[in-house]
Amino acid sequence: MISGAGRTPIPPIRPIPPIRPIRPIPPAPVDPSVGGPCGAPSAPYTDHMGDDAHSDRAGHWTRVYATTSATEVSWYQSEPTVSLELLDAVGLAPGSRVVDVGGGTSVLVDRLLERGVTDCTVLDLAPSALAAGRARVGADAPVTWEVADVLTWVPVRAYDLWHDRAVLHFLSGDEVDAYRATLERAVAPDGAVVLATFAPDGPGYCSGLPVTRYGDEELAAVLGDGFEVAARRREVHATPSGAVQPFTWLAARRIPI
Ligand SMILES: C[S@@+](CC[C@H](N)C(=O)[O-])C[C@H]1O[C@@H](n2cnc3c(N)ncnc32)[C@H](O)[C@@H]1O
Repeated sequence: MISGAGRTPIPPIRPIPPIRPIRPIPPAPVDPSVGGPCGAPSAPYTDHMGDDAHSDRAGHWTRVYATTSATEVSWYQSEPTVSLELLDAVGLAPGSRVVDVGGGTSVLVDRLLERGVTDCTVLDLAPSALAAGRARVGADAPVTWEVADVLTWVPVRAYDLWHDRAVLHFLSGDEVDAYRATLERAVAPDGAVVLATFAPDGPGYCSGLPVTRYGDEELAAVLGDGFEVAARRREVHATPSGAVQPFTWLAARRIPI
C-alpha cells in the first residue's frame, strides 16, 4: 500500500485562458514596383477559354489603347531591333509570309514593308491598334489587318514566319496549349517562329495583368520537339518612362516531318 506520508502535493490545475478572437489578416499592400513599369495589378483575365474570356481580353486591350498613346505604352520601342535580327536569323526575305501576332501598334510592320516584304499580317484583339497601324503605313500597303484572338483564330493559310513580342507571356494553363495549337496550324512545315516574353527577372505584371516569365529553355519547351532553336537573346527593354524590363527572346525553326 502506498502511504500518503511524504507524497508531493499535486499542483492545482491552471485554468485555460480564454481563446482570443483571431484577428483578420489585412490584405497585403499593393507594391507599385510589383506591377513595375507596366502598372499595378488590376482584375486579371478569367483563366478559362470561352466567349466571356475572349471579350474580357478584347475589352481590356481596347481600353488600354483608348487611354494610352502608342508611344507611351510600356512596350513601345522606336526600332524593333531584336525582332529584325532574329527574323533575319531564320531567313526573313522579301518573299516571306509574315504574321505579327499581337502586333498592336508596333512599327515592326513598317520595317518589314521597308525591306520589301509583300505579305505581312498583323493580328490583334484590339481593332483600334490595328486601325492606328493601318493609318500609319497607308491603306494601300500589302498588309492584312486581322482582328482576332490568337487563342481562337483559325488561320486559313500558312506563314513562313510567326513573330510574337509580349503576347504569350499573358497566357497560362490551357491558354498556352491553345496558343501552341494555333501556332502549329499557322506555321508552314519549313517555317520559323520568333518569340519574346518577360525574362525570369522581369516584371510579374504588365498592363495590370499577371504574366508568366520565361527563360529560353522554358520558351523552347512551349514549342516542343517539333522546333529546333536557331538563336537566343536577352534584351533589357527601356520603357518610355525609363524603367527596365528584361526580355527572353527565342528564334526556332520548324523541323519538317
Ligand atoms: C504588350 S502588347 C505588345 C504589342 C506588340 N507586340 C509590340 O511589341 O509592340 C500585347 C499586344 O497583344 C495583344 N493581345 C493580347 N492578347 C491577345 C490575344 N489573345 N490575341 C491577340 N492579340 C492579343 C494586345 O492587344 C496588345 O496589342
